[in-house]
Amino acid sequence: MPSIIFASPKGGAGKTTSALILATQIAKQGIAVTIIDADPNHPVKRWAKGGGTPEKLTIVSDVTEANIADQIEEAAGKTPFVVVDMEGTAATIVAYAIAEADFVIIPTQGSQLDAEQASNALRLIRAHERGIQKHKPDYKLPYAVLFTRTSAAITSRDTKFIRKSFEEAGVFYFRTELNERAAFKAMFSFRQPLEALNPAEVSNIPKAIENAEAFTSEVIERIRSAKATPDKEKVA
Ligand SMILES: Nc1ncnc2c1ncn2[C@@H]1O[C@H](COP(=O)(O)OP(=O)(O)OP(=O)(O)O)[C@@H](O)[C@H]1O
Ligand SMILES: [Mg+2]
Repeated sequence: MPSIIFASPKGGAGKTTSALILATQIAKQGIAVTIIDADPNHPVKRWAKGGGTPEKLTIVSDVTEANIADQIEEAAGKTPFVVVDMEGTAATIVAYAIAEADFVIIPTQGSQLDAEQASNALRLIRAHERGIQKHKPDYKLPYAVLFTRTSAAITSRDTKFIRKSFEEAGVFYFRTELNERAAFKAMFSFRQPLEALNPAEVSNIPKAIENAEAFTSEVIERIRSAKATPDKEKVA
């Protein structure tokens, strides 16, 4: 506990990158974490072939629609954190994972089209909530939208507009964004965690680490504050 699901039906929204950043940063703090590599392309398993997997990070890749709920539950019994990387579709498996979630993160790039896809992920959360609210009217599944690949230097007009519409619609988003950074891409090309990248080959690694740490702190803080609200209940 908790199980954190990265979901967005938009392909390339930044789910795998953000999930791996979160999981490796948690592991770096000495906290055991499982990452469930629920995308059939197994991007995390491929990343792990680089040999830089932190000691506290376990990767589970044997995931199907039939076993995802069990895999999440089993992992939650073994490590304090479970991070689930979903494939970029509106597949049923995503709904199964959301049913097991304690927290959902919806990565989105700051364009209108992406924001619409984020709203589709929000609809899945609402549908899950409605199911539970039949017997527990106050139930809410905590979630947050995460802006990814944004510029570290400037906030685009599009992003500003989307933030404002999310605020008006009462949609929560993380204040920390995962900016577009060479180091975040390089984690996958070199198959290493950020901390193991070579500064001679990749620019601005310390800034990327700082960004990753700030994101991880905000996620943990948000989960803590959501936990403090006593209307959380998991599906039986
Ligand atoms: N913050 C970032 N900075 C730089 N590149 C990024 C960032 N986030 C994602 N990318 C790049 O964008 C592409 C898509 O990212 P990623 O694979 O994380 O998305 P995804 O949502 O998991 O995609 P899919 O739906 O295909 O699983 C990749 O090439 C990745 O390296
Ligand atoms: Mg992915």
